[in-house]
Amino acid sequence: MPADTTSLDLDALEAAHADLRARGLALDLTRGKPSPDQLALSDRLDGILSGTYRHDGTDLRNYGGIDGLPTAKRLGAMLMDVPADAVLVGGNASLEMMFHAMLVGTHFGWDGPGSAWTTRPSVKVLCPVPGYDRHFTVSERLGHEMIPVPMGDDGPDMDVVESIVADDPDVAAMWLVPKHSNPTGAICSDEVVARVAELGNRARRGFRVIWDNAYAVHDLTPEPILMASLWAACEAAGTTESVIHVASTSKITFAGAGLSFLAAGPETLATLRQHLSAVTIGPDKVNQQRHVMLLPDIDALRAHMVRHAELIAPKVDATVAALERGLTGLARWTTPTGGYFVSLWTPPGLATEVVGLAADAGVRLTPAGAAFPLGHDPEDSHIRLAPSFPTLDEVRLAMEVVVTCVRLAIARQRASRDGTGEAVQPGPT
Ligand SMILES: Cc1ncc(COP(=O)(O)O)c(C=O)c1O
Repeated sequence: MPADTTSLDLDALEAAHADLRARGLALDLTRGKPSPDQLALSDRLDGILSGTYRHDGTDLRNYGGIDGLPTAKRLGAMLMDVPADAVLVGGNASLEMMFHAMLVGTHFGWDGPGSAWTTRPSVKVLCPVPGYDRHFTVSERLGHEMIPVPMGDDGPDMDVVESIVADDPDVAAMWLVPKHSNPTGAICSDEVVARVAELGNRARRGFRVIWDNAYAVHDLTPEPILMASLWAACEAAGTTESVIHVASTSKITFAGAGLSFLAAGPETLATLRQHLSAVTIGPDKVNQQRHVMLLPDIDALRAHMVRHAELIAPKVDATVAALERGLTGLARWTTPTGGYFVSLWTPPGLATEVVGLAADAGVRLTPAGAAFPLGHDPEDSHIRLAPSFPTLDEVRLAMEVVVTCVRLAIARQRASRDGTGEAVQPGPT
């Protein structure tokens, strides 16, 4: 029997939830992983070299080439909208590149010994929220004090960012996903791009923005969405060293077997190159050449991303449609134009309960609070929905459960208020 999503009648919703529980579902909307059919779009990678392991005089199978092949650097440059000579090509995880960049700033310093952020009374890092939980995990691991900054539809609240940077010389860095952000789908406006470029002139020396362009070409729109170039803005502002650009092919080819890219100004790049030389003798050039052959130019890249969009868009549409049908007037959510996530905000104090109710009914959701530093959403309101991995039918079913759980949590909160005259307190996050 389908769940009743039209009423806020508590008894009816408790019964609908019990029905869902009895179905023994096992669905998962937790992580933004590509689905098997998305991964299959790049299966041609296997065998694409046809045994040709030499390229421009380089034996791809051997050690060396810390920067990456020039052709792979050009692929990274195309993705990140930066010059190719500013790019380093890494292993499959841009997260690893970001970890190393933050490690260098924190413990080794961008300007030699004595410039490490740890020489300051505290290392403060600005964290637009809701944001990407693994950024916050890196900062937690490195002992950073994370300062939440509100994320709007067009990027972080730059008035807040600029005033914190002006007041506090301990601010060392800022995380930022500039396009189709995880998890709200925000896209930095031209004005925000220009203001981010200016931060390098306002902050103390050593400040770095981690510009994590994980969803640079992951549009769901018929035409590509183009953003102002941060590299150009930094050149104009004289702040090229203040930004570390990062991207990867994780959501373009194989999430676990792709390429990562990092770009930075010449001094920052030299410091990182030296650091990475202590970490590896060189990245996987065989995989670099495979990727260059699969995605030789911007047209090939765009055509490939259109095929991804054809697979993801129906799932995002189904997610948003379920929210519109079941929660209009009761909650708010995003309608992303790209990326992998839909953000849902329940009335305050209910996100933890909704995630628990969904788990009881067999639908795993990202833990409430995950998109905030240390997992603490002060409103206990935000839930990240990640519909890319399950099948379309599974997404529809999972969203039926999510909507029922939000309605049930609201009905319980209202009943509790009616009964006691008090609001339900936010649960632990
Ligand atoms: C914003 C963002 N950055 C980075 C990553 C991970 O990228 P990679 O697979 O290159 O480590 C993700 C994955 O979900 C992401 O959402």
